[in-house]
Amino acid sequence: MVGQVVNSHFKKPYGLHSPAGVMIDVEQLKQQAGIRACDYVKDGMKVGLGTGSTVKYSVIELGRKINEEGMQIVGVPTSIATADLARKVGIPLVELDDVTNLDVVIDGTDEFDSNFQLIKGGGAALLREKIVAQQSAAMVVVADDRKEVETLGAFPLPIEITPFSHGITIERISQELGCQVTLRNVSGDTLTTDNGNYIADAHTGPNITDPSSCEKALLQIAGVVQVGLFINMCDVVILASENGIRTLTKPDGRLS
Ligand code: A5P
Repeated sequence: MVGQVVNSHFKKPYGLHSPAGVMIDVEQLKQQAGIRACDYVKDGMKVGLGTGSTVKYSVIELGRKINEEGMQIVGVPTSIATADLARKVGIPLVELDDVTNLDVVIDGTDEFDSNFQLIKGGGAALLREKIVAQQSAAMVVVADDRKEVETLGAFPLPIEITPFSHGITIERISQELGCQVTLRNVSGDTLTTDNGNYIADAHTGPNITDPSSCEKALLQIAGVVQVGLFINMCDVVILASENGIRTLTKPDGRLS
């Protein structure tokens, strides 16, 4: 059934209590994580610039490093919003087609599990994010600990679909996954991605135990452009929590 529900993020409220009972500002933690991720960016690198409220702090920090420390990098943005921010903070941008391969991409996530598999697309940028991640030699993810899950799927799985016959595509996704699938709206209108497509959100619940098979099955549906499951792409998670910033490195990853 095609619903008209705005995407829900199921996030815990902002503000966490430290062990000492002091209220910690999650936004500050996200900023710290975003800045820490920039340690992976070195002079001369070609850098993928992700989308979202956490990675924006990485983009701002990279701009600062360029302007204040003379660091020389070029960036490939994963959305129009990130391109606008990157230009504003002074990061030179290039087309992915012109550089082909990137040294690293920094991006946010909506969920990650212990195998470093991700659900992304809460910001509707999953297609460009995935294209950029696929061309990157490494992927660093910035997140707060509300995103850490045992099994993926509490966050509704974003799937980019064609506007053409989107109702049929949503019906097929729903049949495939056996769950409700909703067309993402914003302020009462159907959300259109930077690529002119729609987003379907699949309310699977936290039971995507085999994300790779799930992705493959969904990609068989003709109207599916891309799925917000990022399989074996993430190498490091910079995790902000009430205990500070932790770096989780995938044991067999490209940055281990
Ligand atoms: C954009 O489409 C998403 O994949 C974001 O990277 C993800 O939603 C994380 O965003 P926040 O850091 O704003 O939670």
